[in-house]
Amino acid sequence: PGRLPAPSPSLSPSPGGYAASDFGGAASDFEEPYIRLGGLADYVEGILRCRRIVFIACGTSFHACLAARATLEEFAAMPVVVELAGDFMDREAPVFRDDTCVFVSQSGETADTLRALEYAKNKGALCVGITNTVGSAISNATHCGVHLNCGYEIGVASTKAYTSQIVALTMVALLLGADRRSMTAKRLDHVRALAALPDAVRGALALDADMRELAAQLKDASDLLFFGRGYNYSTALEAALKAGGRGGGGRRLGGRVKEVALIHSEGINAGEMKHGPLALVDENLPIIVIATMDAMHRKMESVIQQLLARSARLIILCNQARRAGGRGDVPCGGFGAGLWFRAPRLEAPGDVAMDAFAARGCSLIRVPRTVDALQPVVNVVPLQLLSYHLTTLRGFNVDQPRNLAKSVTVT
Ligand code: M6R
Repeated sequence: PGRLPAPSPSLSPSPGGYAASDFGGAASDFEEPYIRLGGLADYVEGILRCRRIVFIACGTSFHACLAARATLEEFAAMPVVVELAGDFMDREAPVFRDDTCVFVSQSGETADTLRALEYAKNKGALCVGITNTVGSAISNATHCGVHLNCGYEIGVASTKAYTSQIVALTMVALLLGADRRSMTAKRLDHVRALAALPDAVRGALALDADMRELAAQLKDASDLLFFGRGYNYSTALEAALKAGGRGGGGRRLGGRVKEVALIHSEGINAGEMKHGPLALVDENLPIIVIATMDAMHRKMESVIQQLLARSARLIILCNQARRAGGRGDVPCGGFGAGLWFRAPRLEAPGDVAMDAFAARGCSLIRVPRTVDALQPVVNVVPLQLLSYHLTTLRGFNVDQPRNLAKSVTVT
């Protein structure tokens, strides 16, 4: 207990930012449970000596931090706090010189995040940047960091930066936990999962036609809810942000609430369902429930049961079924009647439950399985595709939502 000493001088940040090349050194040998991130290499010891890690971001970047929080807590074995930059500054939240503050931003120019960075720097914290833009204000002003290197993002909606941020943060978690022998096997699992991630994402992208069909069914809905929990609470928030945004204030058009060119939508932590949102549920309101096979799966099954008991109109995002027969995961369905592939024997109880939910009228979105920490990367892909198709089917511009700019450079 008590405050740990501040990072030693040799590990203290040097002023003036860091060279762009420091960011680019992400590498890993997929049969070794280690990660290298060139831009952080000299700072790992200093970060581990800190009292806590505070992640600060806005919008989609904030959701990426939420998605990775549990992984960071588990591998680094440190307290991890995630803050919205604007709210953080409204409160002038306490920051100490033995804190590590991590600023996550696709553009590296977001005014609220930048302001929080200057504030944390003045308080003497070690400041780490995770951005996608070499030479951006945040990458220049932080002491060390990681570049996403996911390529220039053109559309206002952050998509590939979001998935890349989760990957980068997972790599940071593995790096911070590199000396924990008890985590060696788990680290190797995660490194292998990172190597296999492109295939899993490809599997999710293959759902494009199904998502178009689902969008055609949902395009006239006035509201849309997304329920997630644990790692996938962030998926629910991010899907809702992409599908339309939070809160009211939308202008009525043809009987529909229209906001940011799309549909009014909310991302809800399923653990909060009985504390209010359940009152909204009826047979008309479409609800997308994220129930992939992670640590929260059993709880999500129970959420689905309770929603079905209220005649909810459910779309369940779950994993591809693991059918008996030794071929591993196989795709097994899409939308609409008659698309279900039913194997005679099932291996996992979760598969049985999902088939039972389909038999009760739920539509299933089946995605490939990966480790819990990376499942949000795969899960968000069909939901991004769904937003894309909803937007185009409703006749709006997917690259330029109304009233929004790619980079919010004023507070
Ligand atoms: O560039 P940043 O990641 O700092 O931007 C933060 C938000 O403005 C941004 O993520 C916004 O929420 C997205 N454009 C939504 O898709």
